[in-house]
Parts: sequence; structure tokens; C-alpha cells
Amino acid sequence: MKKVFAIILALCMMLTLVACAESGSTDSDVKTYKVGVAIYQFDDNFMTLYRNEIQAYFKTLETDKVKYDVTIVDGKNDMAEQSNQVDNFITQKMDVIILNLVQTSSADALISKVVAANIPLVLINREPLAYDKDGNTIDEAYEGILNNAKVCYVGADARQSGTFQGEIVRDLPTKGDINGDGVISYIMIEGDPENIDAQYRTQFSVKALVDAGLQVECLDDQVGNWAQAKGQELCANALAKFGDKVEVVFCNNDAMALGAAAAIQAAGRTVGTDIYLLGVDALEECVEMVNNGTMTGTVLNDHVGQSHKAVDVAVMLLEGKDIQNYYWVDYVKVVKEG
Ligand code: GAL
Repeated sequence: MKKVFAIILALCMMLTLVACAESGSTDSDVKTYKVGVAIYQFDDNFMTLYRNEIQAYFKTLETDKVKYDVTIVDGKNDMAEQSNQVDNFITQKMDVIILNLVQTSSADALISKVVAANIPLVLINREPLAYDKDGNTIDEAYEGILNNAKVCYVGADARQSGTFQGEIVRDLPTKGDINGDGVISYIMIEGDPENIDAQYRTQFSVKALVDAGLQVECLDDQVGNWAQAKGQELCANALAKFGDKVEVVFCNNDAMALGAAAAIQAAGRTVGTDIYLLGVDALEECVEMVNNGTMTGTVLNDHVGQSHKAVDVAVMLLEGKDIQNYYWVDYVKVVKEG
């Protein structure tokens, strides 16, 4: 009798354990979202800050009940590579994708794939564009590209950053005309020319000077593809060719301005005295340079604001909330304090 009782007791205990495991295990209460982040190229100073902040910010949003499994991949500035990575994200059934396009001209193809897989999509940093047959951008059409309830773009309006660069020069005591000949002679070091950030910064920095009634002369305009080493090489060449004629060096970003600063120093020129140097991004080292006078100014490209907005919108999409198709984050002028 005792034996039978012991067996029944053991059976009851086992059943209780099974019931517990099925209903209340902490693991089954946790919802883990799979997030795929495709960056155009890891080897980019600004986008490195940006992607690290995406990862860090997702972590801060985790709770006992919600986790984010974030996979970040390097497109290596190769559109075919990035296209494969997006295909893999689709196969892996990501819950949301954050995409920094290698080529904005391929936006349509990539967006279509993701939309067809019914995965929400947040585009960042490189505004998707549509082009006419002559290669000019068509505003109305690219509004159309994003015309989907689960697709949006988070970025900053590059016209603003270019305008701020020009205004920093306009507001200098010399207005950028160091030799007093009535003309601001500048060189332009451009980012990837397919990128609207490069196009707008190139155009609007100069426009701000012209709009202020100032005369400008472009001595040289070359493509540095956002890269420091290229910025240094192009600036060194221009200084060797045009010498003291160069009064202003406009760089579409700070990485290239860092290179240009090295070339300026090597050529025996002094920023603030016989030349001016402008960048965009406000990398930490460039803000220091602005404050110690080795750079004239830069423009904050708010990677914290942009990455947080991108993640917040991704979370809204995961929660099935309504979103806008565009979110804009402001640039901020950075000049010497005081
Ligand atoms: C720009 C940034 C550049 C580079 C580029 C990549 O907004 O200023 O430094 O990161 O994005 O698309």
C-alpha cells in the first residue's frame, strides 16, 4: 500500500513540474525581435558612430519582456553585396530592416524586395532618389518610392548643412576673402557624387555666399568619396597647384577635412590666418580642432538624433503603429566657442 502511495505521489509531482514548465517559464514570456541593419560601408567614420549608436540604443530599450536581436552587416560599398545581404535578411525572416543604401539609385529594387516580403523598412542616411532618363533627380517620383505604410526615411536635409558651411564663411571678418581681391577663391572636396549629401553640400555652401552678394571662384572641385586619405591627397594637389590663391577649403565631410588639415599643415599654411577649412559631421576630433583654431568650422550631423529616431520608428513598426514616410533631424553649426 505504502509503495502504491509513493508512486502516486511521484506521479503527481512530475505532472506539476510539467504543468509549470508549460505555463510560466520566463523564456516563453520574452518576445525577441530580429532586426537586420545593412550599412553601406563599415569603413566610414560617421557611419561607424551611427551604427554603434543604433546597437547601443536598441540595448537601452530592452526590458524583461522584449529583446532585440540586432544583426549589422557591412555592404563594403558594393551594391551586389548589399543586395545579397538584404536577400539573406528576408530569408532569415527579420522582423524589421534598417537600410543604409550603397547606391540610392538602387533604392527602388531593394525597397520592392523588402515590401514584397512584408517586412517593415527604415532607410537611413542616404535619401532614396528617383532619376529621369538624363540622370536628374525627380522629386515627385521619390516621394512615390516611399509611398508605403511600412517604409520610411530618417535623415537630415543636406541643403541645410551646405548652407551652414557657407554661412560660417560669410560671417568671418574677412568674409572668406583673405587677400582682399573681392573674390572668395575656394576648392571643393566632394563626397560620393551619387549621394545627395555630396551634391547638396557642394551646391548650397557656395549658394550661401552668392546669396549674400559675395563673389566666388572655384579653383578646383574633386571627388574624395568621403575618405580622409583622398581628402589629404586632393587638398595637397590643389595647394601645390594654386598656392596662396586658395582661401577656402570646403570639404563635404569631416573625414576629408581631417585629411585636408594635414595637407594644409604640410604646405606651411595656417588655418584662420591664411586659409579657412570647413567640414560636416562634427566628429569629436574636428570639434576640438574648431575650438583650437585648426579648423574654421563644421556642422553637426546628429548621428545620435538620427539613430535614435531610426530605432524608435523601427520599434513603432514592430508594434504595428502608424508611421510617417519621412523623419528629418536638424543639422547644427559648429564654430569656435565664445
Ligand atoms: C554623410 C556623412 C559622411 C558619410 C556619408 C555616407 O551624411 O556626412 O561623412 O558618412 O553620410 O553616406
